[in-house]
Amino acid sequence: MLFLGVVALLAGASPALAEITSSLQSILDNTHGSTDYRYPTDLTRDLLPIPVHSHNDYWRKEPFYTGLSHGCTSTEADVWLYNGTLYVGHDQSALTKSRTLESLYINPILDVLARQNPESPFVTSPTKNGVWDTVPEQTLYFFIDVKTSGPETFKAVIAALEPLREKGYLTTVKDGKITNGPVTIIGTGETPLDMVAPVKDRDYFFDAPLANLNDPEYANITGVVSPVASTDFQEAVGKITVDTDPILKDEQLKKLREQIAVANERGIGARYWNTPYYPIRTRNLVWRTLLREGVILLNADDLDAVASLF
Ligand SMILES: *[C@@H]1O[C@H](CO)[C@@H](O)[C@H](O)[C@H]1NC(C)=O
Ligand SMILES: *[C@@H]1O[C@H](CO)[C@@H](O)[C@H](O)[C@H]1NC(C)=O
Repeated sequence: MLFLGVVALLAGASPALAEITSSLQSILDNTHGSTDYRYPTDLTRDLLPIPVHSHNDYWRKEPFYTGLSHGCTSTEADVWLYNGTLYVGHDQSALTKSRTLESLYINPILDVLARQNPESPFVTSPTKNGVWDTVPEQTLYFFIDVKTSGPETFKAVIAALEPLREKGYLTTVKDGKITNGPVTIIGTGETPLDMVAPVKDRDYFFDAPLANLNDPEYANITGVVSPVASTDFQEAVGKITVDTDPILKDEQLKKLREQIAVANERGIGARYWNTPYYPIRTRNLVWRTLLREGVILLNADDLDAVASLF
C-alpha cells in the first residue's frame, strides 16, 4: 500500500530528488532493509493526530491505515455477526469471508501498537503508547457500529476485543474512573445501552444520542458511559441553505451550542454526522464552525480535504 505507492513513484518518470520528501526518503531507507539506524517507533512519525472521525472507514482503500495515515483519531467499523464471526461492511452485499473485524481492524491495530511499544533493555516497564508517535498519549476512538441483533452481536464484539484487552491497550472504567488507553471502544448502532451503562468495570463505551441527552432515558449518562455522543447534524441543528459566513442562522447556532454544552457539562464530547458535504465552501464553513464551537471530532468522508483544514 504505502510502500507500493513509493515503488510506483520510483518506477515512473524518475522524479527529481528534491521531489522526494524527507518522510518518503525515510520510508525508502527503511525498506532497503537496513535496521541499524532505524528509529524503533517510526511507523507513524511525522503524522500529527487531528480530531477527525474517518467516517465509513472500512470503505477506504486500506481500512484503518488510510485514516491512520491522515492522522484521524477516530475510526469506525460496521459489524455483522454470522455463525460466530464478525464481518465488516456497509450492507450484506458488501460482506466477504475475509473482511472481518479481526482481519481489518483488530490485527492491524495490534500490529501498530506492537511497533509503538517495543520491548528492549531500555524499556523497564511495559509501555502503553498509542498509535501516534508524536502524541503517544492520544487515544484512538474506535466506533463499532452493530448491524445485527444487538445483544448477541455486542457480546461477540466484547469477546473479539480480547487480544487488545490482554495487552492492556483499551481505555477502561474501574470504580467509576476512566483510565485512558491507546484504544477507546465505543459501541454504536444496535449496541444495547444496558450492556454498557450498568457494567461497573469495563473496557467499552456507548455512543449516546447527542441531541437527546436530557431525555429521561439518557439523563444520567456521563462521560464514564459515553466519552463521545453523536447525532445527525441536519436533523439536530437544521439544513444549511446559505454558503456564506456565518454559515449557521442564529437559532441553529443556539441549538448547536446548547447541545454541545449539555454534553460537555457531563464530560461528554460532541460529534455530528451527516454534515453537508457539498458545496465545498458550505462543507468547510460547517467544519470550521463545529471546530470553533468545540466538537471533539469532525466526521469526514474526504480525508484529504479535512486534513487540509488543520
Ligand atoms: C452459516 O452456517 C450455515 C450452516 O452451516 C450455512 O448454511 C450458512 O451459509 C453460514 N452463513 C454464513 C454467512 O457463513
Ligand atoms: C440511569 O437511568 C436509567 C433509566 O432511567 C436507569 O435504568 C439506570 O439505573 C440509571 N443509572 C444510574 C447509574 O443511575
